Amino acid sequence: MKIKRIAPSMLSADFGNLQRDIEMINKSDADWFHVDVMDGRFVPNISFGFPVLKTIKKHAEKFIDVHLMIVEPEKYVEEFIAQGADLVSVHYEACIHLHRTISFIKDKGAQAGVVLNPSTSVAMLEDIISDVDLVLLMSVNPGFGGQKFIENTYKKITQTKELIEKYNSKALIEIDGGVNTKNASLLFEAGADVLVAGNAVFSSPTPEETIRQLKY
Ligand code: DX5
Ligand code: ZN
Repeated sequence: MKIKRIAPSMLSADFGNLQRDIEMINKSDADWFHVDVMDGRFVPNISFGFPVLKTIKKHAEKFIDVHLMIVEPEKYVEEFIAQGADLVSVHYEACIHLHRTISFIKDKGAQAGVVLNPSTSVAMLEDIISDVDLVLLMSVNPGFGGQKFIENTYKKITQTKELIEKYNSKALIEIDGGVNTKNASLLFEAGADVLVAGNAVFSSPTPEETIRQLKY
């Protein structure tokens, strides 16, 4: 049976009660912690960096998935791995030497993912799909939580699956942005392996129940 993973996005957590929210995720059926790093240059928003990742690492009992929405990510990936990232994803659009950056992440002992913005074609992955552990398809334009899901993502999931099969790649498919209890099962059926959910989880009065609804 297909393994379904839910990765709550810490961007929507309550930073005044970060430890409480981390422990809620530890107890829940969620699988990964999704950590969104924004620099105010690659995306029009600034989120957080190393000190917050360090706090998440200190309390988290699950896999840590770091999504870098920053320019020149190659300058910082080593530090994110040192601070506890199990997987680091970099944007195709932010990397001039993507193959070098993916190899560097793996050499430093983490898993490596590549991210595509909604307007970037899956065809761009043809020469990197065999080297990555994960393809993260943005289903909103990155920068903010709580945006509306872009329906064209379903087509991109199918195309990514075809590419993975063609090259016999082990890459997982992760979807990020606008995931909710209505579209989650459709996304898993379409071929997603990991669903990121920020607003859906953290604005819910019963986040652990929402995580279950997203997953099952
Ligand atoms: C968007 C981030 C997402 C975001 C998802 O730039 O990469 O991870 O937090 O939030 P929701 O689930 O609220 O769309
Ligand atoms: Zn993200």
